[in-house]
This record gives sequence, structure tokens and C-alpha cells, in this order.
Amino acid sequence: MGVNLKGRSFLTLKDYTPEEIEYLVDLAIELKEKKKRGIFEKHLLNKNVALIFEKPSTRTRCAFTVGAADEGAHPEYLGKNDIQLGHKETVEDTARVLGRMFDGIEFRGFSQQTVETLAKYSGVPVWNGLTDEDHPTQVLADFMTIKEHFGYLKGLTFVYVGDGRNNMSNALMIGCAKMGLHYVIAAPEALYPEEELLNTCREYAKESQGSIQVISDVKVAVKNADIIYTDVWASMGEEDKMQERVQLLSPYQVNEALMEATGKADTIFMHCLPAVRGYEVTHEVLEGSQSVVFDEAENRMHTIKAVMVATLGDL
Ligand code: CP
Ligand code: NVA
Repeated sequence: MGVNLKGRSFLTLKDYTPEEIEYLVDLAIELKEKKKRGIFEKHLLNKNVALIFEKPSTRTRCAFTVGAADEGAHPEYLGKNDIQLGHKETVEDTARVLGRMFDGIEFRGFSQQTVETLAKYSGVPVWNGLTDEDHPTQVLADFMTIKEHFGYLKGLTFVYVGDGRNNMSNALMIGCAKMGLHYVIAAPEALYPEEELLNTCREYAKESQGSIQVISDVKVAVKNADIIYTDVWASMGEEDKMQERVQLLSPYQVNEALMEATGKADTIFMHCLPAVRGYEVTHEVLEGSQSVVFDEAENRMHTIKAVMVATLGDL
């Protein structure tokens, strides 16, 4: 039996098997190749998808919009001032109304609970476009970029440097543990991940022959890294914490000296973007020959398209 994701929501990679994750990455690679050759198969013809954004976005919004349009669907953007989600109307009611009109719903916002409630009550596939806890579509784009670069995922050493308890680190830890990578978090102790999620991921890693390590010594952490990844020091909604994060995270800046500390010349640099140059990463590293950040950004579109096609399309 092949993988069949029809009708499924995409809320967190915890819900997906390694085989299903690999399938989505490979489907995205295929869709990218077809688009480059001018082949548009319109797997989502006559579908309508709602794109709910409580937080701002460049890549995710554009990826859903372009991905939907390429496949023949109509995307409708619903910004935070356009609808009453959770204020004058319960999330459950909005979910049921949107589910009567739309074939799929993307949600970006604060609470993971909201995206889960949308999935429970709408009756249509719901896709997580980022919450405070998770960012699963980004991880698919990151894995696609790694696979394009190295040809495989399993066994690679993936070092995440910076805020070890944010949505990006959580999502990458889940994904790497599922796919058998060696995931190392280099973070100050105050920003270590939640113990419960760590334990869950350690269980996944046992199955996949991957591993999880959390350490505060960044120079030790990056030794032998195949991939160095970082993210902003203060995520959306945490802007008031920037000053304290600068204090905590300045030693964790990804700069040329840190890239050299891997001891490897072919380590790649990754960042989900947007990046704040001069803070979590220097301009030189972001623009340097080891950086693949714009491939990652492009791959957001191909992977998000793959998620929509697999869960909603006529594949
Ligand atoms: N990486 C990412 O999610 O970017 P946006 O915030 O621009 O969507
Ligand atoms: N951790 C970042 C990711 C942005 C794509 C944020 O939540 O702002």
C-alpha cells in the first residue's frame, strides 16, 4: 500500500510517520521539477482554500497563495482584522462556517489549540502555517532542501543554534527525530526545550536510529555539523523580550568563526527567514557560499503545494 493522506490535517509532524514525511518531501521535489518544465496538472481544480493569518507572513502566505493558484484552487486571505476568530465568534463556530464553504483551511497564529480546534470542527483538512509551539510546513521545506543538497536525510548531524524552545526548534526536533538525523540544540540553559517534548522526541529517535542532544557549549555543539540552523532570537509575539535575548544569545551568533568551528568545509547554513542580520546570523554567513536560505524559501512553496495536493487533491 502506498501512502494516502487524503482528508488528513497537517497540524504537527508528530502525527506523521517517517514514510509519510518522506512521501511529502518527494512529492514536493516532483512538483518543483514539473513546474520548472511548465507542467501544471491542476490537482486542486475548483477547490477553495481559506488562509487565516493572526500573525504576519511573507513566505507562508505567498507559498499557500501561489501553490493553490498553480494547482487551480482559489485562495482567500483572512487577516486578523478581517474575521472575528475567538473574539466575537468562537473558534468552533468559525471552523464550522468555513468548513461549509472551503475545502481546506490554513491557520497561522498564536495557539496550537486553535489550529487543533479548527481541524476538529471544520470537517476539512487544516494546515498549520505556524503557531507558538510548532512550524511543521517549514520543516518539510528544510528537509527538501537538505535532500536536494546531500541526497538523503538519515544520519546527518543537524545543529540548531539559538532559542532552543521556540516553534522552529520544536518542529525541527520532532522532524529530525522522526527521520533519523542527529539533532543537537546549542542554547543557554534558560532556553532549553520542554522536558516533555524532549522525551517524546527521544522515543522517536530510538525508532529511527537518530539522536537528540541539548548542550550550552556552542563550540562543542557545532563540531562535525552537516547543517547549522538558526532562527530569530525573539519570535513573533515576544518582541518585548528582545533585550534579554540579546544578553542570553549573543554568544550563539552564527558567524564565520562558528562555521569554521564545525571542522568541515561543506557544512550548510540554514535559516527559516525572516533573519535579523547582525543578531542571530552575520551578513557574511547569510550571503556566504555555504548558505542555502533562498533555496529553503523557494521550497516553502513546493512543499506547501505538496501538502495541499496530498491532503485535498485528486492524486
Ligand atoms: N519562514 C516563514 O515562515 O516565513 P514567513 O513568516 O514569512 O511566513
Ligand atoms: N520563530 C519564528 C519563526 C518565523 C518563521 C517566529 O515565530 O517568529
